[in-house]
Amino acid sequence: MVVSWQSVLDEISQCEKCELCRTRTHTVPGEGNYHARVMFVGEGPGADEDRMGRPFVGRAGQLLDKMIAAMGLTREEVYIANVVKCRPPQNRTPLPEETFACLPYLRAQFALIRPQIIVCLGATAAKALINPELCITRDRGVWVEKKGVWMMPTYHPAALLRDVSKKREAWEDLQLVMAKLKELENEQ
Ligand code: URA
Repeated sequence: MVVSWQSVLDEISQCEKCELCRTRTHTVPGEGNYHARVMFVGEGPGADEDRMGRPFVGRAGQLLDKMIAAMGLTREEVYIANVVKCRPPQNRTPLPEETFACLPYLRAQFALIRPQIIVCLGATAAKALINPELCITRDRGVWVEKKGVWMMPTYHPAALLRDVSKKREAWEDLQLVMAKLKELENEQ
């Protein structure tokens, strides 16, 4: 069943389905275009996102903005979300039970937006959405189609800030996304 935006956003804002609710300042549901052709999915809010209630507004977010711009897109055209909607303490990786509790919100967002392409930013998103056994350094840059949606696993922008040598591969992945967008546009 596809629920309404209002009900998803209301539920997220009041969510107490896992322990992350105890330490959050704000929930971070995601933001962007409700008709986006492309969604970017990260891991979970960091300190800046927790303070602002908005996804990818810190240093990694500034790099994501540049990546989106380099693709010829704007933040307003795409939708940006995370696997978990509340900040994990010390920015640790979300626990399996936190991911499990939160994923229905992301799935509801997919059902409402119906994107053609989902870019999984980093291992947490790629494992949650594509395959728990996925290894991001090995499996990035390869399309996976699930129920008619094209999924592209690539590096998280925070990983690119830590290791700039990964940027070339990430850019190759984003170019594949741009090519797929064109291809799908021509099919319509
Ligand atoms: N890292 C993420 O995975 N998501 C954010 O929103 C910010 C940083």
